[in-house]
Amino acid sequence: MSSVGVVGAGYVGLTTAACLAHLGHDVVCGDVDAERVRQLSKGEVPILEEGLPALVHEGLDARRLSFVMGATNAARDAEFVFLCVPTPQGDDGAADLSFVDSVAREIAPVLRPGTVVVNKSTMPVGSARLVQRILGESGASVDEIGVASNPEFLREGTAVRDFLHPNRVVIGCEDAAVAVRVSELYRGLQAPILVTDPASAEMIKYASNAFLATKISFINAVANLCEAVNADVREVALGMGYDSRIGFEFLHPGPGYGGSCFPKDTAALLHTAKKAGYEFTVLDGVVDVNRRQHERMVEKVRDAAGRSLDGVKVAMWGLTFKANTDDLRDSPAIDVARRLLAEGARVSAYDPVAGEQARQLVAELDVVTDAYDACDGAQVLAVLTEWDEFRWLDFDRVHAVMANAAVVDARNLLDPVAMRRRGFAYQGVGR
Ligand code: UDX
Repeated sequence: MSSVGVVGAGYVGLTTAACLAHLGHDVVCGDVDAERVRQLSKGEVPILEEGLPALVHEGLDARRLSFVMGATNAARDAEFVFLCVPTPQGDDGAADLSFVDSVAREIAPVLRPGTVVVNKSTMPVGSARLVQRILGESGASVDEIGVASNPEFLREGTAVRDFLHPNRVVIGCEDAAVAVRVSELYRGLQAPILVTDPASAEMIKYASNAFLATKISFINAVANLCEAVNADVREVALGMGYDSRIGFEFLHPGPGYGGSCFPKDTAALLHTAKKAGYEFTVLDGVVDVNRRQHERMVEKVRDAAGRSLDGVKVAMWGLTFKANTDDLRDSPAIDVARRLLAEGARVSAYDPVAGEQARQLVAELDVVTDAYDACDGAQVLAVLTEWDEFRWLDFDRVHAVMANAAVVDARNLLDPVAMRRRGFAYQGVGR
């Protein structure tokens, strides 16, 4: 078993740390946020992630997992150091590597010979080399330090399951012996391990996310066309999905993709393409369809209100970028709410977990703690996130409290026939 340092205790770092401890390694996870380190040391997990609290407790109890302040304390004495720091979108669309840069500079002096630095965060092609160069400039003896790209493919909400049951483990490294050492960390998992050069590993991550984003924009475009020709996108997606070359997943139309990955990763890949002199027109289209999809949801609300939105009360159910997460980053719901507010609507929103955070993000939003209260006197109800609990609410009660029973179901969560039978004017997406 190995000693592992993990730098960053966000959802990727924390999942990586807890899962590697579960696999038997000794893990020290460092973060710059003192409050987060204090909470985690007591076993309090500050993010909503299924199965993670149990693994954190297990690791703490077994003394295989600990939390410390800062990158250096995590990296000292480690045989492997995982970089799990944010790589946010910069002004020009490129991934901003300033956290990676500063962490590499910080840890370089304490790395011992034979340590492998593993890039886990999503980093553009060339980052493994960049990290190697920065380590060298900052006092590490680069001949004795390995660097590998080992991208994560974790979905928020199911990150633990995705880590422990991966479709594949990708390791990009110049040195085959180093790649083998990294692969041994994952011993015990049933998954193909693909060893590549660093640039290919980095590209695999971006190409995978861009492809998934493409599937979503494609089905959203098909949904929009289905509306124009009176077809039902759910039947269409089903009929397509039975073709094993296409598959059923990521063919759910909606308000557009959001979250901490797809928007920034598609922008970063477009930036990489531009820099390389390649016009990635397919991906331009994917991003454009996604942007317009938000606007289409606003149009649907306008249609449902039957007038300009000035002074109209809109109830909104769901604010997170998808269900089963508390993450509001790049959430289509937040963007739609902002657009509705900009047109003069009053938006009363309910979310099972993220109401308080949303209130801080959008001051004009009237955040309530009850789904029925949100609908009180509303002219339109817009369902923006597919939280399961929304299916089981009392729609006769919803009908009774609304001023005008019109529903825009941006996730096709509700049954159109049942809703219309109850007297709602119902609009879904693509059906
Ligand atoms: C994604 C990738 O799936 C993961 O592999 C990567 O490492 C990080 O980015 P995540 O952002 O957590 O994970 O969420 P995901 O479940 O992939 O959904 C992303 C967005 O696409 C959400 O806004 C979701 O609502 C939307 N989506 C997804 C659709 O609109 N339709 C679909 O069929 C699937």
